[in-house]
Amino acid sequence: MNIVDIINKKRLGYKLTKEEIAFAINNYIDKKIEDYQMSALLMAICLNGMDSEETFNMTDVFLHSGDILDLSEINTTKVDKHSTGGIGDKTTLVLAPLVASCGVPVAKMSGRSLGFTGGTIDKLEAIPNLRTDLTLEEFINQVKEIGVAVVSQTGNLVPADKKIYALRDVTGTVQSLPLIASSIMSKKLASGVDKIVIDLKIGDGAFVKTVEEAKILGNIMVEIGKNYNKEVICVVTSMDQPLGKAIGNSLEVIEAMDTLKCEGPKDLEEVVLTLGSYMVSMGKNISYQDAQKELMENLKNGKAYSKFEEMVKMQKGNIEALEISSKVYSLKSKTTGFIKEIKAQKLGELVRSIGGGRYTKEDVVDFKVGMVLNKKVNDYVLEDEELVKVYLGDKDININEILDCFVIDMEQKEDNQLIYGVIK
Ligand code: URA
Repeated sequence: MNIVDIINKKRLGYKLTKEEIAFAINNYIDKKIEDYQMSALLMAICLNGMDSEETFNMTDVFLHSGDILDLSEINTTKVDKHSTGGIGDKTTLVLAPLVASCGVPVAKMSGRSLGFTGGTIDKLEAIPNLRTDLTLEEFINQVKEIGVAVVSQTGNLVPADKKIYALRDVTGTVQSLPLIASSIMSKKLASGVDKIVIDLKIGDGAFVKTVEEAKILGNIMVEIGKNYNKEVICVVTSMDQPLGKAIGNSLEVIEAMDTLKCEGPKDLEEVVLTLGSYMVSMGKNISYQDAQKELMENLKNGKAYSKFEEMVKMQKGNIEALEISSKVYSLKSKTTGFIKEIKAQKLGELVRSIGGGRYTKEDVVDFKVGMVLNKKVNDYVLEDEELVKVYLGDKDININEILDCFVIDMEQKEDNQLIYGVIK
């Protein structure tokens, strides 16, 4: 077997065997296959796809590329959440402490920015000194002690995804349903949790653009879960515009804290409450409605915010020292009308271009940059009224490119749905 034959086979649209998938992935981890060869194979997969058997096999090879966590020391049902990625998606920062405050332990491993989307770990690392690289022992002890920990992939958990995720990010090979499914599910299966809620984002600012694609991806992930005896629920949510108002690492942390104090944007709160209600109802075996009531109470009575503070403190973060850029520009609308569309992907790309994300694996993220939207879809804006504030670092930006992301019209958008449904 050799990698060039495997690349050619997929380039020509044939199905790969489990042995071929394992050969490519395991030899890539062992550095016997080069980045450029793996990039070619990933691109062939992006272009020609993989069927469900290949996707199950890819997940299994990923899963067994490293350790599989045993969280049995935490002796209640552990429920995890994962997002397929979007713009302004700071859901985990709110959800993890909120769910933990209801007594359901959240032992969460998160990722970094990918393509035009941000990543929870970069957002957390915007908090000065905050440690995301806990050892396994520290991770488990923290969950046992305070009920929540959010960390980057520890030691040797799914090293295949860690390496391939970083490569996909910089080779235009993120947008492939089988690659997304195997990347997400292998990590969730390896992390030792009992049940999994997936925030499957669709729309302009997501990797999945249509409801049809979401159904395919959701069903694959639910089926993968069943193969390993894990219950998976996919909640399909809109990413047709950024979630909340802030895009950029430090700015998103601030918005997450506001949401934990019931002062955040309503769309973010609704997504958090929906995902959280599934997590708490699965974790405590109670009804969705009862779970939602508990979550709302803990947002209002401050328990969720206190849990966030506890988590940050335990991971050595200094929230007081969080910084945002002082180079702020207010961009004004050139016309009057309704916001018919906000081009989320383009805004995500623009935030990456000013330093908020990465183009190469080695890039250092500027946590202080980003944007805060003053208007969302279907809001009315007057000529000369602020559309967005831009927080710049040392990279410049063409202001018109930002303004072009806001489509203004005399009519409102008809279909402005936030939650599309559930796949289970
Ligand atoms: N999130 C992941 O963890 N992996 C992907 O491939 C896409 C989103």
